Amino acid sequence: MNYEGVDSWKTCILLYNSALKEIGTKLEILNDEFQHVHQYNPIEHIKSRIKSPESIVKKLKKRGYESTIENMVKYVNDIAGIRIICSFTSDIYRISNMLANQSDIRVLSIKDYIKRPKESGYKSYHMLVSLPIFLSDGVVDTKVEIQIRTVAMDFWASLEHKINYKFEGNAPEHIKRELLECAEMVSDLDAKMLSLNEEIRECAERQREVTALLG
Ligand code: GTP
Ligand code: MG
Repeated sequence: MNYEGVDSWKTCILLYNSALKEIGTKLEILNDEFQHVHQYNPIEHIKSRIKSPESIVKKLKKRGYESTIENMVKYVNDIAGIRIICSFTSDIYRISNMLANQSDIRVLSIKDYIKRPKESGYKSYHMLVSLPIFLSDGVVDTKVEIQIRTVAMDFWASLEHKINYKFEGNAPEHIKRELLECAEMVSDLDAKMLSLNEEIRECAERQREVTALLG
C-alpha cells in the first residue's frame, strides 16, 4: 500500500497521528534508557502537533498546488511535526543520531540550522523522516518533521515567531537587528552552559574515582 491507496482525509490524519505516537514512544524509550545508563535525561520536553487543514491548504496554495489529498501528502512535509527540546547542544546531535540509526526510520532530509543559522538568526536542527505505519490492510510510510533545539534556542524562536506574526513578516529593522543580537547571546549561553556542564561531569567523575580508590 502506498499513499495513492490512501484516499480519505481521515485515514491520512490517522496515519500522521500514529506516526507522531510512534516517534513519541521511541523518544520516551531513548530518554528512559539514557537515564538508566548515564543517570541523566537528554530531553527536557516534547511538543507535537498536526498541521491544521487551513494551514495545509494555505501552504499548497502558496506553492501553486491544487488542494488535493495527493498533493498534500506529496508536497507538505510538516503535517506531522514534533519538537524536541534539550538542555545542551550536544544532546541535539545525540538524539538525532539515535533516531537516524533506528532501522525503521528513513531520514529523507536534514537541515542543520545550528551549523548554518538562518539569516534571521534562527537555530534548530531539522530532520524530515519517514517511518512505516502498520494498518490492518497494509503498511504506509509516513512523513514526520522533527525539530530539535535547546531550551534557549526555543525561547528565541518563540519570541521571533511572535514578533514576525505581529508585523506579518515585516518587522522594523532595529527589531530584526536586536533579535539577531539575541540569537548570538543564545549561542554564547548554550556554549557556556555546555562547557559548565562538562566541567561538572568531570568533577563528579574525579570524585567517584577518589571514592573508589579510598575504598
Ligand atoms: P516552511 O515552509 O515554513 O515549513 O519552511 P521550509 O519548508 O523552508 O522548512 P524549514 O525547515 O526551513 O522550516 C520549517 C519550520 O521551522 C517552520 O515551519 C518553523 O516552525 C521553523 N522555522 C524555520 N525558520 C524559522 C525562523 O526563522 N524563525 C522561527 N521562529 N521558526 C522558523
Ligand atoms: Mg512549517
